[in-house]
Amino acid sequence: MKQILLLFVVTITSTMSFDMFSNYRRTDLGNSIDIASMKLLKEIYDKSSEKNVVTSPLGVLTLLSLYASVSEGKNREEIMRLLGANDYKDKQNVEYWLSDSYERLSEHYSKMDPGFLSLANKVLVSDRFTLNDTFAIKAGGYNTEVSSIDFSERKGAADAINTWSSQKSIGKINNPVSESDIDPATVIALLNVIFFQGHWFVPFNASETKEKEFNVDRSTVVKVPMMHLEQSLYYLEDNNMGVRMIELPYQETKFRMIIVLPNDIDGLPEVLRKASEKGLHESIFEMYPVEEVHLDLPKFEIKSKINFKSILQKVGVSSIFKNESTGIVKESSVVVSEVLQEAFVKIDEEGATAGAFTGIFAVQPSALIEPPPHIIFKVDRPFMFVILHDDIVIFTGTYSGNNMK
Ligand SMILES: *[C@@H]1O[C@H](CO)[C@@H](O)[C@H](O)[C@H]1NC(C)=O
Ligand SMILES: *[C@@H]1O[C@H](CO)[C@@H](O)[C@H](O)[C@H]1NC(C)=O
Ligand SMILES: *[C@@H]1O[C@H](CO)[C@@H](O)[C@H](O)[C@H]1NC(C)=O
Repeated sequence: MKQILLLFVVTITSTMSFDMFSNYRRTDLGNSIDIASMKLLKEIYDKSSEKNVVTSPLGVLTLLSLYASVSEGKNREEIMRLLGANDYKDKQNVEYWLSDSYERLSEHYSKMDPGFLSLANKVLVSDRFTLNDTFAIKAGGYNTEVSSIDFSERKGAADAINTWSSQKSIGKINNPVSESDIDPATVIALLNVIFFQGHWFVPFNASETKEKEFNVDRSTVVKVPMMHLEQSLYYLEDNNMGVRMIELPYQETKFRMIIVLPNDIDGLPEVLRKASEKGLHESIFEMYPVEEVHLDLPKFEIKSKINFKSILQKVGVSSIFKNESTGIVKESSVVVSEVLQEAFVKIDEEGATAGAFTGIFAVQPSALIEPPPHIIFKVDRPFMFVILHDDIVIFTGTYSGNNMK
């Protein structure tokens, strides 16, 4: 059980300089995604039993922002607060903010070289419903494909989702949903795939990868394949966070991975707690180059399946699971029934491959009504009976017990 805190920091920029230590731009959107991501990671970590987790918060945040763009009241407010909108109650501000941020990001990322980064969104709507025109236009702004499907054919619906996920992740995320994940009452599914394949700016030398010790906790040491590198890198000692950090740049311009190493062997939960409050950007943007880092980094692979419904409720997004949103399909309001993510990461000498599939599923409010508590009906006293054909009584009688002679 390796305890690893992993963070992919992706920054966008308009300049395309190709040097190892780029000047990374810092934006309000980046800061908001940072804090929301750390909040979600902390909750996922706390909930995970084996403590190796990987997630793409961006996949969830992107789909939530699309959902919020046509929602009202508490449904919208809670999402906007998580997304970090300054004034999440002001409709105008929120609309400007959404179109200027997540919508633009989806647009931008979906046009990057799919050889290293792809982001795709899809809306699957039940063939019994039609998309609200306003929502269809919003979805278009997110570069979203729209198709119609019969969710009551659960196997067909799962296959369609899985085929799309596989196509968009170059065959790496093939079965994120199974037939049993599909509720036949689904009205709409919002889907996202993010896939990243990056090559280290300076690859690790595979012949220097050796089994070395890794402290699982204060009393458990295991051997793991440890890669080795000696290189000038960006670095920071951050005593407030109780960590040291290094940055590993990728050949692909503007992509980098930050490793956050707690000072204490069992310091990760506390570091996650601090990060969930203020994010990591404060520290990341203080990193400075040092001449020579002797780095030992495990080579590893993690796969996570995350039920975001409970995670989102922990970070203050609960209304969408109870309160209806109108404005998504024409014929009915909807409530969110499930938010799922499957994510993986593979780190080796050459670089990193990571991907995530996210799905938000919504149903008609009536589909969420809890079955009433079961009714007790004991026929333990004299009673009457009637036998009918259609509405015609063909037999009737009474029973008072004790007459079975
Ligand atoms: C990789 O490491 C081995 C063993 O230390 C060394 O002989 C070899 O030259 C290195 N290769 C490169 C490309 O640096
Ligand atoms: C549903 O919305 C109402 C009105 O906006 C709000 O008072 C209530 O708390 C919401 N329910 C949940 C579970 O958030
Ligand atoms: C579509 O949604 C908008 C709000 O986003 C709403 O004003 C409009 O009435 C909806 N149209 C239909 C046909 O439901």
